[in-house]
Amino acid sequence: MARRRLNGLRILLTGASSGIGFAMASQLVNAGADVLVTARRRERLELLAQQTQSATGKLHLLDGDLTLASHRAALIRWCDEHWQGLDVLINNAGAGAIGPFALANVERLRRVMEVDFFAPVELTRLSIPLLQRGNRPAILNIGSVLAHRAVPNKSEYCAAKFALRGWAEALRVELAPMHIEVLMVSPSTTRSEFFDSLVDTDPNTPSKSVGSMSPEQVATKAISALVRSKREMILSLGGKALVAMGRWLPSLTDRVLEKTIPAASKPTSPE
Ligand SMILES: NC(=O)c1ccc[n+]([C@@H]2O[C@H](COP(=O)([O-])OP(=O)(O)OC[C@H]3O[C@@H](n4cnc5c(N)ncnc54)[C@H](OP(=O)(O)O)[C@@H]3O)[C@@H](O)[C@H]2O)c1
Repeated sequence: MARRRLNGLRILLTGASSGIGFAMASQLVNAGADVLVTARRRERLELLAQQTQSATGKLHLLDGDLTLASHRAALIRWCDEHWQGLDVLINNAGAGAIGPFALANVERLRRVMEVDFFAPVELTRLSIPLLQRGNRPAILNIGSVLAHRAVPNKSEYCAAKFALRGWAEALRVELAPMHIEVLMVSPSTTRSEFFDSLVDTDPNTPSKSVGSMSPEQVATKAISALVRSKREMILSLGGKALVAMGRWLPSLTDRVLEKTIPAASKPTSPE
């Protein structure tokens, strides 16, 4: 399939105030795309606008909370009024949580599912009529290697990303007759602000916040997946190894992962 040209593409990108989304927005606008970015922190989106003001593409911002139906509707209205269509939706906004499932409150699961699953899925539902009027339309979901193999102490996040991947797989086939592509890119640990904004997580919880990839590297790979219409892409070698090991040696993988649980969060056996 021919490579997708970024110049002039009309893109709605979520989660652009930091990390992977910030880097993707910057790279896309520099490549000539017309990008509507969103996130809750308006000052960060303004910083992005400043940094990209001499780019060949255009950046537009609309801040708000994606878990609110009213904000999702406002984004779609903006695209309809200004563009009368949409070429690419990038579902990137997300949040994690760390800690044992048994000790967490009900709200943690609900919040993670709202941000990582219901918000992108419902935004996508609203965007389909606009994408049908788009130029070689596509939906790019930023998943996670944890959407392919789950790990302990991140059960809520894994569940949300697995749900996103399962939904996307069904949608890919449903939208094929409309010629709307559904793509998924799955990063491993990335050096973003992700580990500073964990949902209902004890700030002393150890987390592997130093990753091997920078947000800029992940953004470049995600954009190349969009350009080349790659339906599924796992970004790191470590991620690919974990997924392969989980698939072919599931019990051994469970045992190896069990050893990664910090002693402090292991359940105690009854006396
Ligand atoms: N970092 C990693 O290790 C890693 C690994 C695999 C996959 N991922 C995935 O990559 C994506 C980007 O994460 P990142 O690493 O770039 O993390 P990040 O730096 O924390 O960025 C997350 C983005 O999501 C936005 N967001 C969060 N909750 C929101 C809400 N309720 N409404 C609107 N926007 C919201 C944040 O903006 P505001 O706070 O301003 O609203 C921010 O722009 C996520 O889907 C994440 O699951 C990350």
